[in-house]
Amino acid sequence: MAGSSSLPGPRHVAVIMDGNGRWAAARGLPRAAGHREGAKAVRRTIEAAIDQGVEYLTLFAFSSENWRRPAEEVTDLTFLLKHYVRAELAEMHAQGVRLKVIGERERFGPNLAGELAAAEARTANNSRLTLVMALSYGGRADIVTAARRAMQAGLAPEALSEDVFAGFLSTAGIPDPDLLIRTSGEQRISNFLLWQLAYAEMVFTPVLWPDFTADDLAAALAEYGSRERRFGARPA
Ligand code: IPE
Ligand code: IPE
Ligand code: MG
Repeated sequence: MAGSSSLPGPRHVAVIMDGNGRWAAARGLPRAAGHREGAKAVRRTIEAAIDQGVEYLTLFAFSSENWRRPAEEVTDLTFLLKHYVRAELAEMHAQGVRLKVIGERERFGPNLAGELAAAEARTANNSRLTLVMALSYGGRADIVTAARRAMQAGLAPEALSEDVFAGFLSTAGIPDPDLLIRTSGEQRISNFLLWQLAYAEMVFTPVLWPDFTADDLAAALAEYGSRERRFGARPA
């Protein structure tokens, strides 16, 4: 049947949420307004992911390179993040969302880092959707930190395998993303989950993140369904 999907839906969807600044600029608004609207899209996308049967949703909210932005924008983003967690935690918990934060959260200061840890603890037993928030996250730093941990654990070189190494990454225990979505038309990884995206299907959409809706997620899942994943083997 034309258009029928051959793949089961993706268990794990990762999103590079890009285009907040351009969304604001197009309206003559300050960038912070784009980030605020982007936070609404986060809320919508979590609900849409639950409705559409996604088990793991990873959102790239702040990269290890985003610290290079002007101090004012970093302050705006940190403020927004803090408010988002405070305002949304109860609702996320009620929806059955388990929160997991990856990245160098300490860089946001002890208060926010502590609130994030408390939010993770409070939602730890939820099982409807695992929401992985990548905050001050960098894929290369994740790999270097994992290598350091493996060495600190006294691992013998022969004992290191891909599976063992993955167990030292920040995403230990989380299956690799099946689908990566990047909004705003940019087509690059920007130091996101370098190890974990090895075989992810990628969907790039011109939609700016603040405009991203449940329909856009559904369209990306449909696109994913039409792909053939071969993992290096020959087609069936
Ligand atoms: C994504 O939007 C949000 C973050 C990276 C924090 P941008 O702020 O990168 O928006 P553009 O790319 O400038 O439009
Ligand atoms: C990637 O977007 C990081 C996030 C979406 C959090 P950027 O806007 O920072 O990426 P570049 O600089 O365009 O590659
Ligand atoms: Mg950007």
